[in-house]
Amino acid sequence: MPQQVSGFSKLSKTEKINWLITNYFGGNIHAKVTLESYWNSDSELQQLHDEFIENTITNFYMPFGIAPNFLINEKLYTLPMTIEESSVVAAASNAAKFWLSRGGFKTKILATTKIGHVHFIYKGDRNGLRSYFEKIKAQLLQAIKPLTQNMEKRGGGLLDLNLIDCTPKMAHYFQLEATFETKDAMGANFINSCLEQIATTFETLSQNSPELHGNKPKVVMSILSNYVPNCVVRAEVSCSLDELTLEGHFKGQEFAEKFIQAVRIAEVEPYRAVTHNKGIMNGVDAVVIATGNDFRAVEAGVHAYAAKDGQYTSLSHASLENGVFRFWMDLPLALGTVGGLTGLHPMVKLALELLGTPSATKLMEIVAVAGLAQNFAALRSLTTTGIQKGHMKMHLMNILNQIGATDTEKETLILHFKTNGVSHRAVAEALNKLRD
Ligand code: MEV
Repeated sequence: MPQQVSGFSKLSKTEKINWLITNYFGGNIHAKVTLESYWNSDSELQQLHDEFIENTITNFYMPFGIAPNFLINEKLYTLPMTIEESSVVAAASNAAKFWLSRGGFKTKILATTKIGHVHFIYKGDRNGLRSYFEKIKAQLLQAIKPLTQNMEKRGGGLLDLNLIDCTPKMAHYFQLEATFETKDAMGANFINSCLEQIATTFETLSQNSPELHGNKPKVVMSILSNYVPNCVVRAEVSCSLDELTLEGHFKGQEFAEKFIQAVRIAEVEPYRAVTHNKGIMNGVDAVVIATGNDFRAVEAGVHAYAAKDGQYTSLSHASLENGVFRFWMDLPLALGTVGGLTGLHPMVKLALELLGTPSATKLMEIVAVAGLAQNFAALRSLTTTGIQKGHMKMHLMNILNQIGATDTEKETLILHFKTNGVSHRAVAEALNKLRD
């Protein structure tokens, strides 16, 4: 039976591993060997990683791949992608190559503001609260000046502060809603620090204010929102029907029609929309993770955006007008290229350098393109060959590793499966036959 433990975080890394081995692995050191085999031999680098989070006992590898040939607003990029799913980088590279000769991807930043709230309860008269808020608003703004100065120098800061009456949603519920521009920072720490200061000042000022007639606002919490419908980028591709013709598959018109039907299905059917958008997030998350950004925040915000009109729907859209096929997507993305892990994690620094040390808005454009490219690749496969052929080809190496094929056996079998259908069973049988 595992033992309860206190003061665990104070133990050394080795003590933590020993505790784990005793309590969860019956004293067997195979787990210890595995954990330690993932330590980096460069002790400084290892220490950096150890200190990212509490109770680090080892590192967890994810592949870091690159997808070249992305033409974005006339400039060529090679995208860094961190992802475990075998076919994602290959699909991104395919889509990039396809659009490279068709004008590439175009992007546009539609908006860049983020919001956060001081959520509070107030049981007095709402009109009194409103005029009180207007009276003290300047003091609330003044209170965060020490926090916003640096951000203001970079062209950002707090843009607006409003009192919102949320009592139709919940009794006595109000918000101070703050709008921010955070420039190249994702801004979570900046926004949360400002909100907490606003909350403290608001409560302090309200203690003995005659306008509130003894009704004191009670702050419940102060936090940014990861829903960022006003921090949005558009990515799109377009080409003539002739250019859309797929060798060996469809004429442009036929392909465009089928593709648009596939998008339309995701627009009207939430079951399909979730999978469709998951494909988009394959590309988005891979670049977001490689560049050290908060993929949970991005995921939460993107899916909320996909449901903003009351039904979960496709993030991407497609049209065919006057012989021109167009495929596009608006994506809410709160990203940073300064702060957080961006200046700390060596691989993140490298990924940002690979992208030409982009601004946050440039990174928004690149990430949205990765999502659109991924979606294009998935829909192209789904509406032509089906997804499994390419997917299983890419998964072949995983199967070969799983069943213990040697390097020479792998070479022979990869050749064999260029012209044969891949399944776990087929690969195992082929390996047995080879060994016989
Ligand atoms: C698999 O990771 C992603 C897809 O399912 C996306 C889609 O269905 O559009 C292929």
